[in-house]
Amino acid sequence: MIINLSETNSLVSEWMSEIRDAEIQTDRMRFRRNLERFGEVAAYEISKTLTYTEREVQTPLGTANCGVIRHQPVLGTILRAGLALHQGLVNYFDKADHAYISAYRKHNRDGSFEISLEYVSCPPLDEKVLIISDPMLATGASLVKTIDHLIEFGKPAHIHIVTAIACTIGIEYVQRNADANISIWAGDIDDELTAKGYIVPGLGDAGDLAFGTKMQQ
Ligand code: URA
Repeated sequence: MIINLSETNSLVSEWMSEIRDAEIQTDRMRFRRNLERFGEVAAYEISKTLTYTEREVQTPLGTANCGVIRHQPVLGTILRAGLALHQGLVNYFDKADHAYISAYRKHNRDGSFEISLEYVSCPPLDEKVLIISDPMLATGASLVKTIDHLIEFGKPAHIHIVTAIACTIGIEYVQRNADANISIWAGDIDDELTAKGYIVPGLGDAGDLAFGTKMQQ
């Protein structure tokens, strides 16, 4: 299932316009906060797909029957670019366990790159709902590699991918190659991908915009 949260105009499309805007995105705090706000809305939308159990709550005036989440999801993110989006999910799923994985593009002299995975920290995932945040679903290669690695910690019941901008090629790659039951929640979807793996029109380098330019390794 692919959900483009800008398909219907809402605050998400407003925030996406700011995240993409070359001038506004130089305000690093606003850039991170917009990603975080999008993460919060995605958390709310995903919360509607979870299973709930009824809890009887004593109020000062009587009893109320309330729906509460039966099993907390696990929130996973890819360091470092995913952190702001992840924070939005954490703000809403405040009781969830977390998974962190570092994935980066290791560049070769000819301009090609491989995805290198290093740090991984993950709770058991068997039968859990896993929500992975990654601001840019570009080629889909790092996401598939991340999923392959995380499912060694157990087979999740379902995986939700939360991404600010997804590229159609990347979405198709994930659908073809990920060995899991997946939904993708995107802030918007673009069609073009450059030879260097950047989404067009996209927004640029999400990690650098949120946290500063890094030295290439
Ligand atoms: N990662 C980014 O930060 N931007 C892109 O366009 C693609 C991958």
